[in-house]
Amino acid sequence: MEKRRFALIGTGNRGTTMWGKELLAGWREHVDLVAIVDTNSLRAERARTMIGSNAPIYENIDAMLAEQQVDLVIVCTPDYTHDEIVVRALEAGIDVITEKPMTTAVDKIRRILDAEKRTGKRVDVSFNYRYSPTAAKIKELLNAGEIGRVTSVDFHWYLDTKHGADYFRRWHAYTENSGSLFVHKATHHFDLLNWYLDSDPDAVTSFADLQNYGRKGPFRGPRCKLCPHTGECDYFLDLEADPFLDSLYEDPSKIDGYFRDGCVYREDIDIPDTMVVSIRYKNDVHVSYSLNTFQPIEGHHIAFNGTHGRIELRQYEKQPWETPDQDTILLVRNFPKGKDTVERIVVPHSPGGHYGGDDRMRNMIFKQGMEDKLGQRAGTRAGAMSVLCGIAALSSSRSGKVVKISDLMPEIVTGGAPASLKAG
Ligand SMILES: NC(=O)c1ccc[n+]([C@@H]2O[C@H](COP(=O)([O-])OP(=O)(O)OC[C@H]3O[C@@H](n4cnc5c(N)ncnc54)[C@H](O)[C@@H]3O)[C@@H](O)[C@H]2O)c1
Repeated sequence: MEKRRFALIGTGNRGTTMWGKELLAGWREHVDLVAIVDTNSLRAERARTMIGSNAPIYENIDAMLAEQQVDLVIVCTPDYTHDEIVVRALEAGIDVITEKPMTTAVDKIRRILDAEKRTGKRVDVSFNYRYSPTAAKIKELLNAGEIGRVTSVDFHWYLDTKHGADYFRRWHAYTENSGSLFVHKATHHFDLLNWYLDSDPDAVTSFADLQNYGRKGPFRGPRCKLCPHTGECDYFLDLEADPFLDSLYEDPSKIDGYFRDGCVYREDIDIPDTMVVSIRYKNDVHVSYSLNTFQPIEGHHIAFNGTHGRIELRQYEKQPWETPDQDTILLVRNFPKGKDTVERIVVPHSPGGHYGGDDRMRNMIFKQGMEDKLGQRAGTRAGAMSVLCGIAALSSSRSGKVVKISDLMPEIVTGGAPASLKAG
């Protein structure tokens, strides 16, 4: 089988690890890294060493395309740049894998969808959470109708003070770059909902505030390395204590001023850190979602409430106490009819990112003949729908109004109003 010749675009943490070093370690018989692109040539050099590659380095995709024959481009740049690179690759006749979120704004979604249609090439969106063992099990239970018709979902996501704060140190902290965490982070969560429920969001309403970071902080400095408040700051990041991050970001920051340890209390941070969202789906499911970014724990809680029972999961990712190396999904029946009222379904963790989800996604994309029974492989429509949900949530939090997906992007909506509204 021919190997796919790919170019890695963006050599930050994600590009260097998931789509660089790990991809070559596990899927070398399927892929060849033939070019590396990053606007910061020093970061690209550091990344190339970490990946263990000899691929030539370019500062932009056009320079790379002028010299290299590639069949795949993997996009790991900041979110607001994805559309430009995805469209350029498609127009050059090249398939794309893009990191989530697919993009950050409605006009950018349109550009990607149009280019994909025009060129007939394929875009995969990196929704690795669909492949985590618990997500796959829940999808199987829902498909099997174990709780009847799903009527509502309670979904709450918690980021701890390390991971959550990280989004406030860098480019993610500005809506212009990331679409806010409603898009950057919640794209995973909205995509999971869309996929679990096998339906599209119809209407979205939200509240969101900045309650902990940015201008809410007690003091601020230029960046952790130069800050006079390191002794008293709960969020002090000592970059030198992390040789991987230090090497990939510190010296290269001299080229472009992109610091890995920006102050989480910068006055101009304009994204919320505390958010709640209500969503009504086309199939009449009601969702209650929240995201908090400064907790002592990391993980999520999700419950599906159906006409015949409930599926519930509390997934721990990090917490200051011991948890087993497995998760337990609770399936509770209203009307057991000879089955157990409560089933405890134990799902062991697998090694690797997202409890093995990252590896399963790479298998699905790169190995031949993989069966996609659960519809886990995600393309541009899924990428668009989850971003639209985030854009709607941000818009609602600002306007105080309910936002319809059909008002944002009428051409993507199928099937008219939700069933109950049609009946009414
Ligand atoms: N699926 C997941 O679970 C997951 C996890 C982490 C990050 N991500 C995504 O991966 C992407 C990268 O994240 P990161 O944390 O590595 O970011 P990063 O900021 O650390 O790295 C981005 C790199 O892109 C380079 N770059 C910027 N603009 C460019 C351009 N126009 N052309 C080429 N290079 C350019 C920067 O110099 C930098 O080296 C983001 O979209 C993020 O959402 C996904």
